[in-house]
Amino acid sequence: MPPSATSAPARTVSVRPSLILVGAGEHAHVVGESAEMSGWTVLGCVDPQRPARRLPWPWLGDDAALGSLRRKHPQTQLILAFAGAGRAQAAQRILDWEWATVIDPAAVVSPGARIAAGVFVGPLALVHVGARIGAHAIINSGAIVEHDVRIGAFAHVAPGAVLGGGVTVGKSALIGLGASVRDHIRIGASAIVGLGAAVVGNVKAGTTVLGVPARPVKVAPASAGTDGGPRHTECAEYERKHCPSRPAEAGATEGERKVSDVSDVSDIVARVQTPNRKNRKER
Ligand SMILES: CC(C)(COP(=O)(O)OP(=O)(O)OC[C@H]1O[C@@H](n2cnc3c(N)ncnc32)[C@H](O)[C@@H]1OP(=O)(O)O)[C@@H](O)C(=O)NCCC(=O)NCCS
Repeated sequence: MPPSATSAPARTVSVRPSLILVGAGEHAHVVGESAEMSGWTVLGCVDPQRPARRLPWPWLGDDAALGSLRRKHPQTQLILAFAGAGRAQAAQRILDWEWATVIDPAAVVSPGARIAAGVFVGPLALVHVGARIGAHAIINSGAIVEHDVRIGAFAHVAPGAVLGGGVTVGKSALIGLGASVRDHIRIGASAIVGLGAAVVGNVKAGTTVLGVPARPVKVAPASAGTDGGPRHTECAEYERKHCPSRPAEAGATEGERKVSDVSDVSDIVARVQTPNRKNRKER
């Protein structure tokens, strides 16, 4: 009997459409690798500038290239592959494309969780039963999103962060590396939970909290980007390229200053170390 005529059981191979990464930095490398490992064919990345960092996929040009790419690859999907501010703007700017949801094969996602379009779930992350993840959110490597957690659109749960059952995370908030949030706590939109913090009380929108237990610090308005999302080094770079006319660059308005314009950033630590009654109330 020729090899082709054996009675081996047919294998099911899931065929996914091809994928374009929006962004060409470190996070794009991570997203692209997870995508390939879960069966996507990564066509390349779009970014305003040719990436300095060598990626395994070609640079396809800036956003303007998307027009011809769309005609050539009508089935292709996109994912925002940079973290932080500017993501909501990019999603608004890039219309007519279907957004891919990329889940690393080493992530665990409960069949009872709901994940919106454009979400990235990294390796070793857990999204438990009843969790709802909003569009374009990032559940990064090893993050634990316990049962019934709600995550708003564009929020970022950084590597190793742990969200207890029933936690709510607002739109564009950042839960920093290794931070823990007690069950049923509410984190407001565009809030920042600093890396390593332990959050035991609700956090107001736009507030930054640090430490164990986490205390609010003087809000550095410029910690938020133009879409209210927190700024990271990489996204600040992306935003500079994508949004050259943002107010922070051209005479900032109150609430939109650059981080470097905030004279009292060091106030952060002072207030963490000596939290006063007002801080406790605001938490
Ligand atoms: C909270 C945070 C946003 C502050 O960033 P920043 O505004 O750039 O502040 P700086 O790094 O300049 O630090 C300012 C001061 O706060 C202190 N600080 C910063 N982060 C802190 C934290 N998480 N806990 C306690 N203190 C912190 C710094 O030591 C510094 O103190 P100093 O002035 O005495 O030197 C940032 O530290 C953070 O936690 N980011 C999250 C990172 C993350 O999770 N990235 C995801 C990668 S995938």
